[in-house]
Amino acid sequence: MSFMKQLDVRTAAHIGLDDVRIRPYGITDRDRVHRMSARLSAASLYTRFFSGTPRIPDHYLGLLDGLDHWNRDALVALDGGEILGIAEYVRAAGRPWRADIAILVTDPWQRRGLGSALVACLAELAGRRGITEFDADVVLTNRPALRFVRHGWPAVHATSEGGSAHFHLPLARAAFRNSAGNAMTDPRNTAFERTDSPPYLAQR
Ligand SMILES: CC(C)(COP(=O)(O)OP(=O)(O)OC[C@H]1O[C@@H](n2cnc3c(N)ncnc32)[C@H](O)[C@@H]1OP(=O)(O)O)[C@@H](O)C(=O)NCCC(=O)NCCS
Repeated sequence: MSFMKQLDVRTAAHIGLDDVRIRPYGITDRDRVHRMSARLSAASLYTRFFSGTPRIPDHYLGLLDGLDHWNRDALVALDGGEILGIAEYVRAAGRPWRADIAILVTDPWQRRGLGSALVACLAELAGRRGITEFDADVVLTNRPALRFVRHGWPAVHATSEGGSAHFHLPLARAAFRNSAGNAMTDPRNTAFERTDSPPYLAQR
């Protein structure tokens, strides 16, 4: 399965719209990410950024500006010119096989399979770059995200610290699952190839 085919989310979960496209974050997406704030509730912003913030914070936009598409990368899901969701990984310093991940789906698009599709694509991309484990921190009161993680990794155990659950998510054994319980991505079954070519980075 090629990565570009994997990016076609029309076959994933129960998204339902043909126009959703997932692709790497590009520098021209900064304003689009900024505009996402209008479609994010205070609860979604709090659970993603671990603090009360009325909009997507500037430090996050700065992190996106610093993506190197190897140790740090992000995928965006778009409908036309608007970003519906974004997921990123940051490779751990000194442990290059591990990466922290975070996901944010705009409120109107939550519970439609988009977060699962983004994580599946991110897992494939990261796996191709030698990452075998994701780390994720979830606020303990964030029940949707806790269920979301267990949906993708049913057997995972969490450790808790300071009001957050920490998940250690192995990519080699954990395929992210769609709503029917079927694997959406399994790095063991995927023929990885480097596709960091201009078409791969094409913007729409
Ligand atoms: C958590 C989040 C990323 C989930 O994304 P999503 O697109 O809504 O998730 P999906 O539609 O792919 O859901 C996959 C599964 O997760 C579970 N799940 C997701 N949202 C849920 C909710 N609100 N209640 C219960 N279970 C939920 C379900 O098992 C779901 O499968 P199902 O719909 O077939 O039952 C999204 O709600 C979000 O962006 N929240 C705000 C930011 C955040 O908390 N990020 C996570 C920490 S970084």
